[in-house]
Amino acid sequence: MFIGTEQLTHTYMPGTPFATKALHDISFNFKQGDFALIIGPSGSGKSTLIQHLNGLLKPTSGQVVFEGKNIGSDKQELLRLRKRIGLVFQMPEEQFFSETVFDEVAFAPRNQGFDENEVENKVIEALEKTGLDPNELRMRHPFQLSAGQKRLVAIAAVLSLNPEVLILDEPTVALDTAYRKNLFDLLTGLNHKEKLTIIISTHHLDEAAALADRVLVLKQGELAMFGPAVEVFGRREELYSLGLALPPVTEIMHGLAEKGMPVSTSVYTLQEARREINKVKRRDRS
Ligand SMILES: Nc1ncnc2c1ncn2[C@@H]1O[C@H](COP(=O)(O)OP(=O)(O)O)[C@@H](O)[C@H]1O
Ligand SMILES: [Mg+2]
Repeated sequence: MFIGTEQLTHTYMPGTPFATKALHDISFNFKQGDFALIIGPSGSGKSTLIQHLNGLLKPTSGQVVFEGKNIGSDKQELLRLRKRIGLVFQMPEEQFFSETVFDEVAFAPRNQGFDENEVENKVIEALEKTGLDPNELRMRHPFQLSAGQKRLVAIAAVLSLNPEVLILDEPTVALDTAYRKNLFDLLTGLNHKEKLTIIISTHHLDEAAALADRVLVLKQGELAMFGPAVEVFGRREELYSLGLALPPVTEIMHGLAEKGMPVSTSVYTLQEARREINKVKRRDRS
């Protein structure tokens, strides 16, 4: 198993009148190199699950497994683990605390004890990986940036430690279409070129649907579905009943298929849809 959980259960404030069972008996595993999605409506346990995957939260019972080993609770071990498994929180820019973009991205490498030359290299490399121009932005105040740039700085801050797994909690929240596209292009590049395993959570299936290899669906803290994207997305009615509509273009393809048009319904982008429909048109003409 590369990264996953075994019978993971998490209760907040156990033993108090406020006890909330946020996760119940969750077992799954993602493979190295996966582009994985964790989907579920608000309150289904996505953020709780994600924070277990790099050891920020401790299981009430069950375990989190990375490379076949229980990640355990040894402090040194956890610090090493957090270098390899990077986590970008939801709305990460709300937690910026530095005066400059450089210092914001330099925080983690400085914390790891790298000397200033190495820190500089890591910051520049991380900013470049996100497509930001280090020379233009390094001395800027993080709050002067656009919403999309801020999100990228937050991602650079995590990439600065060269993680092997990048986890992002609802990364597209509050971003408009152009920024979303930019973000997904970046994540696709990191997944394909840098071979990073990417795990993202979302309560809204957008562009992420087209990129997913494997999908985990949460429903009120329980695992509702887990498997290859084509399998999970094939269970459209069940997803719908959870308030998780497939992307509009996929719904249209289902509509066409129901009307008897021989199109694939595993279509998540306009480009793929156009290709499918053109195929049918060509077949009709010949
Ligand atoms: N710090 C916390 N203390 C108590 N309950 C929490 C805390 N964080 C989340 N919860 C509860 O756990 C459940 C799952 O929440 P969360 O993991 O944030 O879901 P999601 O990210 O899918 O919206 C919800 O019922 C939520 O109210
Ligand atoms: Mg959440």
